[in-house]
Amino acid sequence: MWGGRFAAGPDAIMEAINASIGFDRRLAAQDIEGSRAHALMLASAGIISDSDAAAIREGLLTVMSEIDAGEFAFSTALEDIHMNVEARLKELVGEPAGRLHTARSRNDQVATDFRLWVRDQIDGALAGIAAVQRALVAQAETGADWVMPGFTHLQTAQPVTWGHHMLAYVEMLARDAGRFADARARMNECPLGAAALAGTSFPIDREMTASLLGFDRPMANSLDAVSDRDFALEFLAAASICAMHLSRLAEEIVIWSSAQFRFVNLSDRFSTGSSIMPQKKNPDAAELLRAKIGRILGATVALFTVMKGLPLAYSKDMQEDKEQVFDAADTLHLCLAAMEGMLRDLTANAPALEAAAAVGFSTATDLADWLVRAAGLPFREAHHVTGALVRLAEDRGCDLPDLPLADMQAVHPAISADVLAVLGVHNSVASRTSFGGTAPERVRQQVQRWKEHLG
Ligand code: ARG
Repeated sequence: MWGGRFAAGPDAIMEAINASIGFDRRLAAQDIEGSRAHALMLASAGIISDSDAAAIREGLLTVMSEIDAGEFAFSTALEDIHMNVEARLKELVGEPAGRLHTARSRNDQVATDFRLWVRDQIDGALAGIAAVQRALVAQAETGADWVMPGFTHLQTAQPVTWGHHMLAYVEMLARDAGRFADARARMNECPLGAAALAGTSFPIDREMTASLLGFDRPMANSLDAVSDRDFALEFLAAASICAMHLSRLAEEIVIWSSAQFRFVNLSDRFSTGSSIMPQKKNPDAAELLRAKIGRILGATVALFTVMKGLPLAYSKDMQEDKEQVFDAADTLHLCLAAMEGMLRDLTANAPALEAAAAVGFSTATDLADWLVRAAGLPFREAHHVTGALVRLAEDRGCDLPDLPLADMQAVHPAISADVLAVLGVHNSVASRTSFGGTAPERVRQQVQRWKEHLG
């Protein structure tokens, strides 16, 4: 493509480090879409003839069908997807192919292709997130009033409902979706027409190519257009946060499916056996979901490291953006699909959840609140009295509701038989009706809201 300036071809090692066709072939569809829009615009602006544009656009469709059919001969000597496509177009349509690269450069071309690709991935991530949310909402609806222990420091804290716990992740994933949507809105500007870095002297119509490619507008500064990859970083950052959320849920599923917890049963479809221990059913999918954040965050750090300190405008360093983003996008896609499948198949063990909810003095806060409400104690004193009752129960090896009333009254005379009602886990969760609280009636409201929202 630049033979005019060069007497010798590249060294084999030069070719190996330089070529991106091994991975950027994944941008083929976007590259061809961008080129077809560019050709149409060139003709409409009178820069090339209508017949040349028609030949180019038709030829590009042929190239695309060859690639789709697996019949395209990718060449490392042709370096990247842009030159591979153009060279094949030349073979197919001859001279008009040479006019396609008028008023553009591979710099604005690759920036355009990559934005289109990342935009598609964002749409895929949004669909994947919604699917996981629907699976969580279904779990929440089934177990809106199943009581389970809520933890802080992984120590029993207060009873909560299964539905409430599931909906916590629905909220997190909604913010993930919001981050992807924000990134999409910000990135949806078209770099095409920035050319190498300075714009072009041809009378191009950047509004036209932007709108043909579904962008909101052309990017306003040609230097910026060819040299930033912040859109890819935003995608990776949103993906990292989302993968972090999935990792936390995955970790809970690993814990919950253990013989010690028995909170959930994983389906055979989403677990594996052991080659030596016949009794084992391992939560491999959940463990891998717990781990995959490593790859995605790794890609994020890698691309930040590539981009930091790069002077304007394009530098070849930026070719290193793609593999990281490709891998992160594939990983996120797989994680969302695996999480959805695992959740759809997962059955919570309601009796085990409830039994666990009662141990560990989980209703101690309810007792303290009752002392405030019914006996008029200041909260600090109620906290102290309750602490003494917990110590008493601990000494006796029983739970709070098992303490005889007389022994409780010996600790504080204001305690009456009414207190027993608040010591039960069902009463405890039912009482937490504050907005955002764990009460089943609140959970059902939120389930309804999410069902309407997610469709
Ligand atoms: N393969 C290149 C990349 O991914 C395309 C842009 C090359 N531009 C250039 N001036 N060499 O970044």
